[in-house]
Amino acid sequence: MRSDQERWDKKYKGKRVDSGTEANPFLRKHIHLLPKGKALDIAAGEGKNAVFLAHRGFDVEAVDISKFALRKARKLAKESGVRIRTLQADFDHYPLEEGRYDLIINFYFLDRHLIPKIKRGLKRGGKVVFETFLKEQMSLSNDGPKNPRYLLKPNELLTLFREFRILFYREGIFKEGGTKKAVASLIAEKVRISPQRSQRTQRSLRFPR
Ligand SMILES: C[S@@+](CC[C@H](N)C(=O)[O-])C[C@H]1O[C@@H](n2cnc3c(N)ncnc32)[C@H](O)[C@@H]1O
Repeated sequence: MRSDQERWDKKYKGKRVDSGTEANPFLRKHIHLLPKGKALDIAAGEGKNAVFLAHRGFDVEAVDISKFALRKARKLAKESGVRIRTLQADFDHYPLEEGRYDLIINFYFLDRHLIPKIKRGLKRGGKVVFETFLKEQMSLSNDGPKNPRYLLKPNELLTLFREFRILFYREGIFKEGGTKKAVASLIAEKVRISPQRSQRTQRSLRFPR
């Protein structure tokens, strides 16, 4: 059986895989909400979001399992006249350093085991921007994962970050860049919440399935 790295390298070798070099529309629209500083782009792919953040003054680390994707990300950064740091790593094993980042972005990559690591990796006041496909995407389009394991359930993303302060959340079918997609998008801030309040928040954010 082929490893994840081999599968993604095969995809990224040669032809372009991600949707162009323009950063994600949700990220572009909400950039003013995000704290400048050290940023991590999780599963950065060909680097369009990392390069966008570098243009906006962030110090960006782009991490991905595919060396071919990262090669393209470095090329894009060079052509755009910005610097990003790239690191080939598998998030199944990659430990995020505690309290290292002001911003973590995670676009179109769903690994639920990573959520606690993202929370730990952020500084207090740090923010996470997360967007990926909902289950509805399977019946909407051929784009996106076919395995439901890699798709979000209703309100799942909101619930995964329930002890964070939710600054923006949307869920549904949106037309962006000319195509319709079923996604959930979130911006949330790591805050210190007393244990009592945290329990209350968790109760009030428990949604029926
Ligand atoms: C659908 S692409 C998304 C790329 C980029 N975030 C975007 O929105 O354009 C998913 C990315 O996840 C990376 N990936 C898959 N499994 C990974 C893993 N275990 N660790 C790190 N990166 C992984 C792939 O190489 C690929 O670049």
